[in-house]
Amino acid sequence: MDPKPVAVSKITVPQILERKLRGEKITALTAYDYPTARLVDEAGIDILLVGDSLAQVVLGYDSTVPVTAGEMLHHLRAARRGVHRALVVADLPFGSYHLGEREALKTSLRFIKEGGADAIKIEGGRKRARMVRRMVNAEIPVMGHIGLTPQSIHRMGGYTVQGRTLESASELLADAQALEDAGVFALVLEAIPRELAAMITRRLRIPTIGIGAGPDCDGQILVFHDLAGLTFEHSAKFVRHYANLSRDLHEALVQFRDDVVEGRYPTDEESYHFPAAGLEQFEKEFSGRPMPG
Ligand code: KIV
Repeated sequence: MDPKPVAVSKITVPQILERKLRGEKITALTAYDYPTARLVDEAGIDILLVGDSLAQVVLGYDSTVPVTAGEMLHHLRAARRGVHRALVVADLPFGSYHLGEREALKTSLRFIKEGGADAIKIEGGRKRARMVRRMVNAEIPVMGHIGLTPQSIHRMGGYTVQGRTLESASELLADAQALEDAGVFALVLEAIPRELAAMITRRLRIPTIGIGAGPDCDGQILVFHDLAGLTFEHSAKFVRHYANLSRDLHEALVQFRDDVVEGRYPTDEESYHFPAAGLEQFEKEFSGRPMPG
């Protein structure tokens, strides 16, 4: 008899907060569709982010700016179907909350009700604090994101490390505090000096999740395709490729092409056969006969 399936309990927002109190690291990865979400979930990753980075790594846009709430929702629903355990967080894309708190609430509720998200992530510091408060008051768990915020590419002029001057470090400390006060349950710190990330992590009660922010954060997040080596561009310094899927898949695809061209695929073992008992009759009936129709 098959063993009884083990019920997997879903990670919750309070559990993520408790991790910090217990000094246990939090793991997070992006995923944008059913197979990647299943792989992430089955590996025991705590937080699965349907990030707007899908604009670049899956949809081929040159930044995260063009991706729409509709496109995000499509991917969120697919990813959600692959998850049993991880906390599913969905990114609010550029232009889906900029008209104000009402629009932010509307997009977030859509992601939760139609997409199955457990929580929402929003980029930006103090200027988002009011919006975050409204969302939290509406029972929407919110994750913050400061430092390098890719949706600000046109203002920043490039994807550069943030918080490297005393002034900008102090701005980021104030942003972090304002977001905690507004009620975010966790805060992504992207591409900031390790020392600054460590200080923010020490000062906040909520967990910090680093990406290019050094090892002292309460957790770490990477983009799935970076970790898997399924990218075509140069990777940032902080990315560690745990696999080289671009190379492996390229080799597999070239092998398939060569096998077909050279007649090595498929073999007889990879083919279906007419039942042996009727084969003679089959040949008699059809060989030499023109195609029907
Ligand atoms: O969209 C994304 O992938 C993100 C992570 C880099 C944190 O926001």
